[in-house]
Formats: sequence, structure tokens, C-alpha cells
Amino acid sequence: AHPPLIAPSVLSSDFSRLGEEIRAIDAAGADWIHLDIMDGHFVPNITFGPEVVKAVRHVTTKIFDVHLMIAPADAYLDAFAAAGADVMTVHAEAGPHLHRSLQHIRALGKKAGVAINPATPESALEYILDIVDVVLVMTVNPGFGGQSFIPASVEKVARVRRMIGARPVRIEVDGGVSPDTAPALIKAGAEVLVAGSAVFKGDASAYAANIAAIRGMR
Ligand code: DX5
Ligand code: ZN
Repeated sequence: AHPPLIAPSVLSSDFSRLGEEIRAIDAAGADWIHLDIMDGHFVPNITFGPEVVKAVRHVTTKIFDVHLMIAPADAYLDAFAAAGADVMTVHAEAGPHLHRSLQHIRALGKKAGVAINPATPESALEYILDIVDVVLVMTVNPGFGGQSFIPASVEKVARVRRMIGARPVRIEVDGGVSPDTAPALIKAGAEVLVAGSAVFKGDASAYAANIAAIRGMR
């Protein structure tokens, strides 16, 4: 198996120095940059919008992995695409027309992702697996960094892996990912590991070791 890709979530970074923090995780070996967009409606927290994504686009050439926790997402897809998103992930629960949202993302020339919350069965993916590039399995309830990993997620990842079969779809996991929880997720089929608090702990000089530890290379 290939080593997993690590996507640090800047939610746990110092927002007063967002550009520098992204540069630091880029230098520390991040594969994707995970940007959490929260609307205070779909999730009980608010972060930032496309203008902030655009403002930090120039600091790295790495993939911008935009996790849209907004409902409905459709009206904002063009703006996040123009801001420089590479992967755009919408929640299956955000409605009302998941298939249309995914088609829209692909029509913008971006990689399309679908996220499912911990309470959402993987069967929600059944009719859209042929039009996505990424399935994001939430391993905590979305809204905040630093929450505890939900153990039942490991079995869910394994089930999603079986559903995907030979399709070119990557499984991403998000929430409570750490050097302790990563190995079981990787074994179950996760290929992209999002991590916020486990990456942004200590100062920037610790980020490379934090990322390597999650990758299983410490
Ligand atoms: C949670 C966000 C995550 C969050 C993960 O709603 O989607 O990306 O930053 O944080 P940790 O890794 O600390 O659980
Ligand atoms: Zn996220």
C-alpha cells in the first residue's frame, strides 16, 4: 500500500498568521491543505469564506482541499472554485440535490468530494460513487477541532472501501486523526488523512515530526 497522504486542517492553526502557517505545513511535508468552511447553520461554528481562500492561494502550490460544511453549498461553489480550490467536498446531508452539486463541481473542472457525517450510513453514497473523486468519512461530528475519534468509523471506512471497488475514488478521513488512530484507518482503506490538532501542536518546528508520526514514519 502507498503511504497515506496527509492533509493538515488549518482550523487548528494560528489564524492571525494563516499564510505563514500554510507555508510551514507545506515545508513540513503536507500533501494537501485542508480548509474547513463552516456556516454556523449546517455546523455550530463559523470559519471563513472564499475571500480568505483566495488570499492564501499564492503561498503554496499544494492541493487546496476545501471541506464545505455549508447548506446548501450550491450557491458558493463557483466562488470557491474561482478562489483556487482543487478538491471541493460537499456533505451528503447538506442537500437538497447532492448529485447536482457534484456534477456542478465537476463542471467547474474541480475534483468532487462527498462527505458523510458519523450518523449517515454509507448507503448514502450508492448512486453517486461514479461521479466523485473523494469520499470523506467524518470520524467526528463536524464543527470543531480537537474532538475524540469515533471508533465505529473504522468499520465504516472498510465498508466504503468495499463499495468503491475498482473505481478511482480516494477515501479521506477527518476528525480525531492522530498517530494512535491513523493505523487502523489506513488498514481499513483510508488514503488521505486530515489532521488539525495533531499537526498544529507545538511550534512550527514540530510540524514535520507531527506529520511524519501520523503517516506512521516516526
Ligand atoms: C471538523 C473539521 C476538521 C477538524 C479536524 O469539523 O472538519 O477538519 O479541523 O480537527 P482534529 O484533527 O483536531 O480532530
Ligand atoms: Zn474538515
